[in-house]
Amino acid sequence: MHIEVKNLNKNFGSFHAIKDVNFSITKGHLVGLIGPSGGGKTSILRMLSGLESPTTGDIYFDGKLATHLPVQERGIGFVFQSYALFKHMTVFDNVAYGLKVLKKPKEFIHDRVTYLLNLMGLAGNERKYPHQLSGGQRQRVAFARALAPEPQLLLLDEPFAAIDAKIRKELRLWLRNLIDEFKVTTLFVTHDQDEAIEVADEIILVQGGKIEQQGSPWEIYTKPASSFVASFIGESNVISQYTPLVGFPYLDEIQQDGKWLPDVNVLIRPEAIEVRPHDVSHLATAGEKGKVTHVHFRGDSWYLEIDTGAIKLFAYQSVKEKIYQPGDDVNILIHQISVFTKTENIVIENQAKQDPLPVFI
Ligand SMILES: Nc1ncnc2c1ncn2[C@@H]1O[C@H](COP(=O)(O)OP(=O)(O)OP(=O)(O)O)[C@@H](O)[C@H]1O
Ligand SMILES: [Mg+2]
Repeated sequence: MHIEVKNLNKNFGSFHAIKDVNFSITKGHLVGLIGPSGGGKTSILRMLSGLESPTTGDIYFDGKLATHLPVQERGIGFVFQSYALFKHMTVFDNVAYGLKVLKKPKEFIHDRVTYLLNLMGLAGNERKYPHQLSGGQRQRVAFARALAPEPQLLLLDEPFAAIDAKIRKELRLWLRNLIDEFKVTTLFVTHDQDEAIEVADEIILVQGGKIEQQGSPWEIYTKPASSFVASFIGESNVISQYTPLVGFPYLDEIQQDGKWLPDVNVLIRPEAIEVRPHDVSHLATAGEKGKVTHVHFRGDSWYLEIDTGAIKLFAYQSVKEKIYQPGDDVNILIHQISVFTKTENIVIENQAKQDPLPVFI
């Protein structure tokens, strides 16, 4: 189902929670709705579901006005953070519930529930009750129950929030494959930006009741619309003052009379920083000198904290490369920075890298 939301507003008493929100979701896409706590994610989801009415604005399903359609006529499947399974019903009866409400024939219900439980890796658990399952299994039952009546739209509100990190990572890939299999339009609320980047076709980032940015994970990561988006998605070094970095002279946009303009942030992604031993002398033409202050092991990489004297940065180093110790002198090459002013986002490549000298071996 294609979804369109136009000029959506929601007031709770005098509090303006959702402010003129507009977006659309392509049929069959999985869209991640992310943002800080209290941003308005659940409120948007509840208005799409019909559990809450917008104060103003409209919702269209496949081009048809659906703003005030009753919940049961919307063809929506829900999965929420708390498992919300029927405790007194078996796994089979939980999944069969929506089909019984629709008065489907017994044989049809049996076949559909069996098919879904197989697909979810839950075959053999039909007669168990929710309390006899693990958290991950319970959440898979919740998905089976939501998908059983073939919904046109799946609304997921932090479905993996109560599940531990490792299982959660497995479940996100599982979810992506599931959505591909069912081709059901899905809106997926998550606090976890990594989860959204990995599974979503598109991301909508909301903050303070407004959409900060909508785009593919790649677009949002590489072309964040604001320093808020850049720091929310992925990791960044955020610098609000610096002396010019080698290769990045002061820009007219960010300074006036030698002074930094207010509301300017420079963001440097850790992957834009290369760290080399200080005796790689030719790097000095395009790089900064720095000292390693802290080293943390991250399994597949080292997390390095570096002080250049003017700024402090963090960067990653592959475990296959040289191991640094606190106190080591290094040369660092910053490939790219993003400058955010009040009105602009300017991505700047290191200009000193254009030197005829070879920069890297
Ligand atoms: N029924 C309500 N009455 C009054 N205020 C509400 C109600 N529901 C939500 N709000 C307020 O609206 C804002 C958005 O809430 P919402 O639950 O949509 O945020 P969220 O992005 O889902 O947050 P979280 O990530 O913590 O779940 C919050 O400030 C919240 O306090
Ligand atoms: Mg919420």
